Amino acid sequence: MGTSTVVPSQADVTVGPQSVRTNTDIDRISDPCNIVFFGASGDLFKRMLLPAMYNLHTQGILPEHFGIIGFSRSSYTQDEFREFGQQSIAEFSRSGPAQSEAWSKFSERMSYIGGEFDNPETFQQLRRMLEENDSKLGTQANRLFYLSTPPGIFAEIVRQLDAAGLGPRDNAQGWTRIIIEKPFGTNLESARALQTEVSRVFPEKLIYRIDHYLGKEPVQDIMALRFANVIFEPIWNHQYIDSIQITAAETVGVEQRGGYYETSGALRDMIQNHVMNLLALVAMEPPVRSDADSIRDEKFKVLTAMRPIPPDNIPDYAARGQYTSGTLPNSKSGILPAYRQESGVSAESNTETFAAAKFYIDNWRWARVPFYVRSGKRLARKWSEIAVTFKPIPHRLFGEAGDQIAPNTLVIKIQPEEGVSMTFAAKVPGPKMHIREVNMDFNYGSGFGVVSAPAYERLIGDAMRGDATLFTRWDAVEVAWERVMPILQHWEQTALELDTGYAIGSQGPQSAKALLAADGREWRPL
Ligand code: BG6
Repeated sequence: MGTSTVVPSQADVTVGPQSVRTNTDIDRISDPCNIVFFGASGDLFKRMLLPAMYNLHTQGILPEHFGIIGFSRSSYTQDEFREFGQQSIAEFSRSGPAQSEAWSKFSERMSYIGGEFDNPETFQQLRRMLEENDSKLGTQANRLFYLSTPPGIFAEIVRQLDAAGLGPRDNAQGWTRIIIEKPFGTNLESARALQTEVSRVFPEKLIYRIDHYLGKEPVQDIMALRFANVIFEPIWNHQYIDSIQITAAETVGVEQRGGYYETSGALRDMIQNHVMNLLALVAMEPPVRSDADSIRDEKFKVLTAMRPIPPDNIPDYAARGQYTSGTLPNSKSGILPAYRQESGVSAESNTETFAAAKFYIDNWRWARVPFYVRSGKRLARKWSEIAVTFKPIPHRLFGEAGDQIAPNTLVIKIQPEEGVSMTFAAKVPGPKMHIREVNMDFNYGSGFGVVSAPAYERLIGDAMRGDATLFTRWDAVEVAWERVMPILQHWEQTALELDTGYAIGSQGPQSAKALLAADGREWRPL
């Protein structure tokens, strides 16, 4: 007796000596606003965006006065759209089916417009609906447009918004911002063309290019780990670090998105955006301040310092693969079809479902340190991480014959586990001086006693607040495209070779293994 157990609550948990506020430490967004979702009958809206909005509402984060307008080609009545919304929440929300009272307050602020994205009349209708909401719901002419349509229509929507007088320069009463889903362009040229169109109407500070990886808690923690601790920064450089591996592995295939994926592939779909953002955060210099542009300046600089891959030497720097049929470990789904048998995919497809690359950052900090990145579908395990491998000890004092002294590794675990782990060498208890690798592990769930909010909740909330820190600025998008273009062009011009097939549920293609083997290294096992 006499001891008490502290059970961490959602609101106030004790981590180490200090008490920190977590999930509930979020203020209500102050500005009233309307948010218009283009592509509101689509998969992303149904699975992620609407559930995110609903959960922001139930947590009291949405402003008191808000409106949601869905806009797509499908012909829903207002009631049908609300019903579709309710079903989507029942199926996909992290909080389960909507509760009747919360739902009725939420759904009465939902409305819908069905029509073509290039029809000026539909945009006039949108304008009228926004004005009506301003007087009915008190949304005070603040407008957030969210483009989650197929990317080919982004520029057209921006043109139509402008023509309908819905651009920022025509809105003297409130603010107007735009969130643009990925992919921002399909190559350097189309990205630049899209930027030209969008920036004619929206100044850069009003454009929020979304990359949902930046909304994941462990990704935001990269900066805290590096710059809120004193112990990592002095060794975060080429003198102590041997190499860095960034992995974004999935077990899912292309699902219903075969048509889109055929025009994309793993390099465009994951590496050019999500993985490049992770690389920038792990490699950037400390920003001078914590505001959006100070952080984004440093991310841009580090991407600029990435050495362009020589176009005549691509196989020494990049590897690709495409999944062949097979089974996933621990899955009851049996033999799954090869990529070329998926619906919407050509039987002779040249599209990669796995991409790996080696990059160097030519600056003082990172000279000669390779950054190995990889991403693929239908791999052995869903697992995203950044693994920093330190150099071997300079001189070996301890360890019995046969003991391996593995270099220290620091792993930032992004998903499904969220946390940080660190390996180091320790003496095995006993009379001899055996040395073995041990692990120190921090896990967000058990450490803070909360479940991280989905990335879209965080990011939509930030855009409504006008905080662009976790959104990608144009200069970084452009340089990321520049760095992947030599690989893309080479792959487009050459057929997938035989050693690039990999069985579903495997570690990836032989070619990726060879990429690291050439440097005397191995990928961390999935
Ligand atoms: C998306 C890609 O951006 O990210 C998808 O288009 C991919 O192909 C998804 O499946 C992965 O996201 P997450 O959060 O599951 O790692």
